Amino acid sequence: MVAKTIGFIGTGTITDAMVRGLLAEPAFASQVTISPRNAEIAQRLAGEFAEVSIATDNQGVVDASDIVILAVRPQIAEDVLRRLSFRDGQSVVSVIAATDRKALLEWIGKDIHLVQSIPLPFVADREGVTAIFPPDAETAALFAALGTAIECETKEEYDLLAAASSLMSTVFGIMDTAVDWLEKRGLAKGKGRAYIAPLFASLSQTAVRAHDVPLGELSREFATKGGLNEQVLTDFQGGGGRDAITSALDRVMARIQNG
Ligand SMILES: NC(=O)c1ccc[n+]([C@@H]2O[C@H](COP(=O)([O-])OP(=O)(O)OC[C@H]3O[C@@H](n4cnc5c(N)ncnc54)[C@H](OP(=O)(O)O)[C@@H]3O)[C@@H](O)[C@H]2O)c1
Repeated sequence: MVAKTIGFIGTGTITDAMVRGLLAEPAFASQVTISPRNAEIAQRLAGEFAEVSIATDNQGVVDASDIVILAVRPQIAEDVLRRLSFRDGQSVVSVIAATDRKALLEWIGKDIHLVQSIPLPFVADREGVTAIFPPDAETAALFAALGTAIECETKEEYDLLAAASSLMSTVFGIMDTAVDWLEKRGLAKGKGRAYIAPLFASLSQTAVRAHDVPLGELSREFATKGGLNEQVLTDFQGGGGRDAITSALDRVMARIQNG
């Protein structure tokens, strides 16, 4: 365990996931201080984990912690941050979406050490991949404990990974389309999902394990010449599937960059 005291401003869905990941055995933090809102989630975490205590207010979180995680919604971030007083050089990790570094630093108004990050709910099971910006060894170690950390050298890299994270619903949508088709064609209910979910898991695991094999090569490897996989890939691309994904990512990137 790394003897770190970590605090969370905003105790909602993503804080719940991060605290569960951080305090799974072996725990990454010696002490976790959370803000009192949301009261229900805060009480539940404090009840489940001996390392968790609930501060009386947000300032109490800052004062008790080596690393402060900012996890409120973007709409209230300015109001919350302007009221807080951080220590010079304190480590602050923001998970707040769609809020740029300059604004956060201005609202904090102190010379703190700020890193931005995009954790995903999978951090609860220590299986989340998290983009961070700028590169930072301490924050990378924290998110490595929760899965994998990808350190971005530039804001552009960070925005690109934020755009890529928007593919999650679509991947579930592809699985849903396949399962729906299977059941409509007569497969017994439940069997489609029992087949498709592990199939996608195996494909992802293959892509992770064979990390130095280009994905295009894996795609070709799994498509026998003249076979069924090749036929579906050709139909998908011919039907505009690849173009649809590319233009959806372009549009989401434009939205991220234009605020
Ligand atoms: N959920 C995700 O998967 C995810 C992933 C990456 C990043 N994020 C980012 O993380 C941030 C939080 O998202 P979330 O999904 O966890 O939202 P959420 O569940 O709504 O959590 C926000 C929490 O902030 C609390 N809060 C409200 N006013 C507060 C105040 N003045 N001081 C301290 N806490 C206050 C809320 O308490 P009440 O319930 O009492 O209002 C709530 O518990 C957002 O900026 C989001 O963009 C979320």
